[in-house]
Amino acid sequence: IPLPVDLFGAGGHRNSAGLDLSDVDTLTATVKVVNAPLSQGAFPREGGGPDSAQSADRATAREPEGLDPRLRGGTVSDAITRAHAAFPGWSRSPVEARAACLDRLADLLETHRDELIAICVQEAFKTIPDAIGEVREAVDFCRYYAQQARAKLQPIELPGPTGERNMLHIEGRGVWATIAPWNFPLAIFLGQTVAALVTGNAVVAKPAPQTPRIAARAVELAHEAGVPADVLVLVTGGPEVGAALTADARIQGVAFTGSTATARKIARALLEDDSRPIVPLIAETGGINAMIVDSTALPEQVVADVIASSFRSAGQRCSALRLLLVQEDIADGVIEMLSGAMDTLRIGRAGDPATDVGPVIDQAAYDRLMAYRARVASKTVKTLDVPADGLFVPPTLVRIGAIEDLNEEWFGPILHVATWEAGKLSETIARVNAKGYGLTMGLHSRIARAAEVIEAEAAVGNLYINRSMIGAVVGSQPFGGEGLSGTGPKAGGPRYLYRFCAERAVSVDT
Ligand code: NAD
Ligand code: ALA
Repeated sequence: IPLPVDLFGAGGHRNSAGLDLSDVDTLTATVKVVNAPLSQGAFPREGGGPDSAQSADRATAREPEGLDPRLRGGTVSDAITRAHAAFPGWSRSPVEARAACLDRLADLLETHRDELIAICVQEAFKTIPDAIGEVREAVDFCRYYAQQARAKLQPIELPGPTGERNMLHIEGRGVWATIAPWNFPLAIFLGQTVAALVTGNAVVAKPAPQTPRIAARAVELAHEAGVPADVLVLVTGGPEVGAALTADARIQGVAFTGSTATARKIARALLEDDSRPIVPLIAETGGINAMIVDSTALPEQVVADVIASSFRSAGQRCSALRLLLVQEDIADGVIEMLSGAMDTLRIGRAGDPATDVGPVIDQAAYDRLMAYRARVASKTVKTLDVPADGLFVPPTLVRIGAIEDLNEEWFGPILHVATWEAGKLSETIARVNAKGYGLTMGLHSRIARAAEVIEAEAAVGNLYINRSMIGAVVGSQPFGGEGLSGTGPKAGGPRYLYRFCAERAVSVDT
């Protein structure tokens, strides 16, 4: 399939909102793939193509049919037993051998990119640009962590002023549980998992119950790339499977991405049993992400960036803009322009190349978002018509009275707008900080001092100035929050791998 190769290159600032998909031949080919049976017929989907996947009665917590038995973990305990037995051999393998597995996996992801794009569209209802971005990010994670492992995991010789030889070894810890959300079902699922693997850990990996097929295919490719089957074991299912994983005392670390509420449950589970070792938890969670716009900003750029940040991916990005704060004297004009721009959004099937905003992930999400929209109907200043036969939540703009009126992450295409007073930038930032989340924040301003102030005062992991707030690039824009939004270290950053490691200092009297 002649997808442009440069869409998959590592680095470069090209995100799913900005990809150039104007090449008609490419799109036609992609759509053919999306509508074709998936490769090897390994994961037949009941009811056929992507449209049926948008039906209201979507099952959750199911294992993909036709799953290669070697991928199955059996019970959670069986899966951990297998990984536990495989850990010593894997941890002793050279870093280079493990990094080479990640490079081969990246190659395989590229080779199978059309199939992976198709599964992302069918299973997670990604738009085609988002699905392409998903595969590209997964490739980037593999290549970046391979490169980081080669550079950072070698033993370090330390000074020996006492005449001893001092070495610091950086090793795997044991069996990690990696637990992933549905909204980046390949990139985040694989990113967490390959980081744990390349640092010498064995992994029991659990995808979200909504997206097991793409995860199963990724695990299959990882095995093909040389990761032994017992070193990486897949378990599928919902919260109960995740809870069983984190409750097992043999788990030596958890890399979790998902909601703040689930992160708390996992943190409690890891501490419940007093006899259990204290193990690291990497938790990357949600946010109430704000963008502040002052009267010097370029309105056209603001509107384009707000549309991309709030409504692309149907608002189902943790990084997405939830709260737009416009300086009060320009607020009416910005809202009017934004409303006009919303009219240009095309809402439709995930597999349709024309679609800007697809359906949300499942019936539960749809019901939650629609109930909220009904609650805020009197404050809604703009909404759109959507097709009747699918899980389409209308992109919606809600005007709220104060920054404090939004206290929950609404994970869909709903944007709140409030105003702030000129001269009160610091106070405005402080009021956003006070929510306790700290994932992304944005500023649109042409005043250099405003940029300095927000840089110094915003309590967030990722700050975006005069650009959109989505699409962090692996290796260039390490991603992750603070406070209620996450523990760090940042995914795709130069310090990420260390958290997966044990350090062992060995001193020898020579
Ligand atoms: P979720 O918390 O419901 O589920 C995430 C994963 O945790 C799933 O695999 C789920 O089965 C599992 N799980 C649920 N309960 C568990 C338990 N008690 N023990 C162990 N595992 C359990 O989140 P979601 O709905 O899949 O994803 C959306 C959320 O993820 C949003 O809040 C979004 O902001 C966040 N997110 C954050 C980032 C980030 O990098 N900060 C990235 C993507 C998504
Ligand atoms: N890494 C994703 C983004 O930046 C969540 O949008």
